[in-house]
Order: sequence, then structure tokens, then C-alpha cells
Amino acid sequence: MMGKPAYDPEDDDAGRDDRSQSDMYALRPVPRISIQAFCETDGIAVPIERAGEDRRMAKTHLKIHMGGIATAVEFYQSAPTPNLIIVESRAEPRQLLESLGDLAEYCDPSTKVVVIGHYNDVSLYRDLMRAGISEYMIAPVSIADIIAVISSIFVDPEAEPLGRSIAFVGAKGGVGSSTIAHNVGWAMSNLFKTEVMVADLDLAFGTANINFDQDPAQGIAEAVFSPERIDEVYLDRLLAQCAEKLSLLAAPSTLDRVYDFDSEAFAHIIDTAQRTTPLLVLDVPHMWTGWSKQTLLQADEVVITATPELANLRNAKNIIDMLRKSRPNDAPPKLILNQVGVPKRAEISAADFAEPLGLTPMGIIPFDPLLFGNAANNGRMLGEMDAKNASVQVINEIAHILTGRAEIKTKTKAGVSGILGKLKLRKKQ
Ligand SMILES: Nc1ncnc2c1ncn2[C@@H]1O[C@H](COP(=O)(O)OP(=O)(O)O)[C@@H](O)[C@H]1O
Ligand SMILES: [Mg+2]
Repeated sequence: MMGKPAYDPEDDDAGRDDRSQSDMYALRPVPRISIQAFCETDGIAVPIERAGEDRRMAKTHLKIHMGGIATAVEFYQSAPTPNLIIVESRAEPRQLLESLGDLAEYCDPSTKVVVIGHYNDVSLYRDLMRAGISEYMIAPVSIADIIAVISSIFVDPEAEPLGRSIAFVGAKGGVGSSTIAHNVGWAMSNLFKTEVMVADLDLAFGTANINFDQDPAQGIAEAVFSPERIDEVYLDRLLAQCAEKLSLLAAPSTLDRVYDFDSEAFAHIIDTAQRTTPLLVLDVPHMWTGWSKQTLLQADEVVITATPELANLRNAKNIIDMLRKSRPNDAPPKLILNQVGVPKRAEISAADFAEPLGLTPMGIIPFDPLLFGNAANNGRMLGEMDAKNASVQVINEIAHILTGRAEIKTKTKAGVSGILGKLKLRKKQ
């Protein structure tokens, strides 16, 4: 591993700020993103390091490595890429473009790249933009330049929203949707070192607090009952930290209030959360209300968990049809088959289950009461209990698929139809 750059803290000229104070004041806090910088000179490493100490960057995770693009390429052969990579290069334009091509091979699709170069060249700038580089800055750069460029990518209201929301819902109650949501959230934060927020929308009976062994005094109820107060700072105070990069917006799981919300009740909370965190896991309870439907309709991705029996198939089919129809321009929801192989239970095979839905399951998780029971009763994640377990491997695979790092494996086994007839599912067009 490479250390931090050595620099003289007394050297006031390093990273000197030539922007006006008011420009800096106008910048809003940068969300919880991970940033890694690869620098060739102290002239760039120092202002980046100092930018990282600015209050606006307090929520970011910043690491600075010495060594330019070649070092980054080597580093990412064995490590996941962060939300933002900043690379400094003194190479001339052609060579710079070539080495960035090497880096691109190891970059996750959602990772943004900012290049700090030493050549002021318009055609280079155009080529870099065409290659998907977020910004090209020319050395020297100031602390404010760095914060401003990061803000322009991740804070600017005109920039695409930072966070992706993934809503998990069960085709029935008790199928394991919440357990899977929490474990996939944990896996994403743990595997990809990216910040994840889990929001438990089952206010009355939510189990995220149990599964993560947390007892926060405040949580999602405070936000949903005082919508006028919600902003990034307020939301921040309601979060419980469950792991280094995993925070939880917990449900109260109490019955002293009733939870009848209007259909937009969670929209502002979700929007605010997406502005602060790259990945938002929504644990949506199995119910059909205005707000639960709206939450599914608005999510970037919907994951339906089902167990292999008939009522699950019927419900999954109804949810999938509804979402396909209402979101014609989005990918269809993703399917997980859970609790597969309960002894002595008659089950629908995965192929037969998937066929009428027109989907390949993204993951099939066996019924494993020992592992799941121990994890739940100890407030531990499955991956903490037994990282090598087959179910944990499926959870990890799902985390890869949901973050665009892997594709669903299609096992083209022709399904036996006939299930559809049994269900008497009407085909309404
Ligand atoms: N694959 C599995 N094998 C055994 N038990 C499971 C499995 N998946 C979930 N469970 C258990 O099923 C119960 C219900 O899970 P939960 O996540 O609360 O379901 P849901 O959110 O769909 O209502 C929990 O006790 C959980 O530990
Ligand atoms: Mg649940």
C-alpha cells in the first residue's frame, strides 16, 4: 500500500486558494462518497489532501496515493473502484489517453474519473470528455478548485442524482425479503467499500434494527412525521451506523402510533437520502398501499423475493406485470427465489416458477434455518457468521448484479408450462 504524500504543513503556498471565499461558501457539503487520488507531484497531492480536511468534505472517504495512472491500474486489478478517482498525469496527450484506456478496463461502471493534467489542449479536453472522463483540470489546482469539481459532479442539482435506490419487496410476508435486503446492503458496502444506507419502511414490525443489532433512539419515523424538517443534515442525525460504510434508517417497530401515510410520504426522504449516499436499500413491507406502490414505482431498481410456491408465483406475477406496465422504459424487476428446498414441502421448480414471469432469477437461496436463525438471533449478518456459506455467495453475487458489476446468469432450461393455467392468470393487455 502506498502512504500519504509527505508535505510541509508550514508551506503556505501549497494548494493556495485563489478563489474568493464567497465561492467556497456557496458550495454545499459533498455526500458520502469514496474518493481515491493518484498523484505524481506534491503540488497536486497537497491541495487534494487539504480539500479533504474541509468541512464540506467531512462525509467523504478520501485516500491519496503517490504514483499516477499506472499505479492506479495496478491498484484496481485487485481492489474495487471508488465513487471517484482523481488521477494526476504529466504525460503528453496521446500517452495520457492510452493510459486512461488501461484504467477504464478496471473501472466499475458507476465510478467517475477526474484527470488533472499538465497540458492545456482543447482537443485533448474533447477526447477526454468523449471517453467519459468527468472533468479535466489543468495544474496547478487550488483546494477550492478541487472541492468545486467534486461538487459539480456529485452535488450540483443539475447533475444526475448520486444515489441509486433499490427497493426490496416480498411476494408474500415472511419470504425473507427483509433479511435479503439487509444482507445485500451489507455485502455491497463491505465488498465494494461504498457507502450504503438501508431504510426500513416497515415502521410497525421492521427487523433491520434486530438484524443489525441496533437500538437507535431515532429513525425513519421522525422523518416521516415531520416532513418539513427533512434535509441532508436532519436525515444524517437519524442514522445509526451499522458498519464502516453502512448506515441504517431504522423503523421504530412499536405500535403506539398507527402508520397510515399518504402516497408521497416517503418520496422526500428517499430523494434526500439519494443525494447523500451512493446506494440506498429500501426494505418495503409486503403490503399494497398508496405509498408502498409509489415507492416501488419510483425506485431505480425493484427486487422481488419469493418462495417457490403457488401464491408467491401469483403475487410475483401481479407485481411484475404491474411494474412492467407502469415503467415501460425501465428494466423489469429482478427476482430472487428464497427458502428453496424446505424438507417435505412440495415446491415449484425454479424453471417453472420463472417461466410465466419471463424472468431469470438473479439468485436462488436455499432454505437454511441454522444459518439464518443464528444470524437473526445474534444480530449478525450472514457473511459475518459464515463467509464461505453457499447462501452468502449468492448474496454476494446479487450485490454484484445490482451494482452493474455482473450480469444475471441465464441457465436456459426450458420450463414446463402449465402453471399459468392452474393460476388462471388473466392476460390483460
Ligand atoms: N433462506 C432462508 N432459510 C431459512 N430461513 C430464512 C431464509 N430466509 C429468511 N429466513 C427467515 O425467515 C424469516 C422471515 O424473514 P424476513 O426477512 O423477515 O421476511 P419478510 O421481510 O419477507 O417478511 C426470518 O426469521 C428469517 O431469518
Ligand atoms: Mg420484511
